[in-house]
Amino acid sequence: MEKRPIGWPLLVALTNGRTRIPDDRLTAAVRDKVVLVTGSSYGIGEATAKRLARAGATVLLVARTADQLEAVAEEIRIAGGQAQAYPANLADPAAIEDLVARVLDDHGHVDVLVSNAGKSIRRSVADSYQRFHDIERTNAVNYLGPAKLVLALLPSMRERGSGHLVNVSTAGVRTPPLARWSAYLASKGAFDVWLRCIAQEIRPDGVTTSTVYMGLVHTRMSEPTPLLTKLPGLSPEQAADQVCAAVADRPHNITPPFVRPADALGNLFRVPTDRLFEQYYRRTTRAEP
Ligand SMILES: NC(=O)c1ccc[n+]([C@@H]2O[C@H](COP(=O)([O-])OP(=O)(O)OC[C@H]3O[C@@H](n4cnc5c(N)ncnc54)[C@H](OP(=O)(O)O)[C@@H]3O)[C@@H](O)[C@H]2O)c1
Repeated sequence: MEKRPIGWPLLVALTNGRTRIPDDRLTAAVRDKVVLVTGSSYGIGEATAKRLARAGATVLLVARTADQLEAVAEEIRIAGGQAQAYPANLADPAAIEDLVARVLDDHGHVDVLVSNAGKSIRRSVADSYQRFHDIERTNAVNYLGPAKLVLALLPSMRERGSGHLVNVSTAGVRTPPLARWSAYLASKGAFDVWLRCIAQEIRPDGVTTSTVYMGLVHTRMSEPTPLLTKLPGLSPEQAADQVCAAVADRPHNITPPFVRPADALGNLFRVPTDRLFEQYYRRTTRAEP
């Protein structure tokens, strides 16, 4: 394991938040509940599914990699939990319709949807002229797929008068926009805004929403960016703690401590903030595009 300076855990907590949920409170909230977790083959989704299953939820695992998804489900079942794998590509609207039909057929309803599957791309616009598909792919996985899944599940939730939608978003949609992250942040921002709009319409019918504005988490998503591997970040299990807190307590949002002031200042001083980040981009672009 990499040696970290003294005070590193405190720095991790200050920058990323350390919202926790005790086991007994999580168990009281999710025992015998049906929880569908997208992107549960790896990373935050895998850790979340395992924690929820330990607390007594029946977890439905969704991602593309069927064998990995089945391995996670099997691990949960061996540990005494309930899990079922539903391999599906969330970039394919027909696959989502098929998925929801199968899930409702098998379980009758879904109590909680954890919309966690995501695709990240960090690339300058100069490197993107021939890559319109970056924008299409990030939107398909981070916005259109999650929105389609919510549309497919909402009628049964509203009919039952209960349901909870948890969006695993990023702190990056609350802090000022950053060069090189255009495709990723725009797609995450789109789903964030969409969900906040519909939340106002569905709450009176008993369907609530929580958004986790996640800080940095060390997973295979952040791994390819060398700078991110050196910054203070959460483990997938610590990130899962935040997602599980959102599942159990149903807060409007969970946000790392630094994000609220950064959000307010970024909005108040939009021009100087954009100019500041422009300078940062220019400086770092000498080392990389
Ligand atoms: N890591 C971070 O620093 C960080 C920070 C803020 C927010 N987040 C958010 O946290 C969420 C989870 O990220 P992570 O770090 O755990 O990444 P990860 O380890 O790469 O996991 C991403 C998950 O999404 C699934 N997925 C990707 N494309 C899919 C598709 N088309 N259909 C179905 N499933 C798909 C992947 O499974 P398959 O490949 O098997 O399909 C995988 O299970 C994402 O929404 C991300 O935006 C991450």
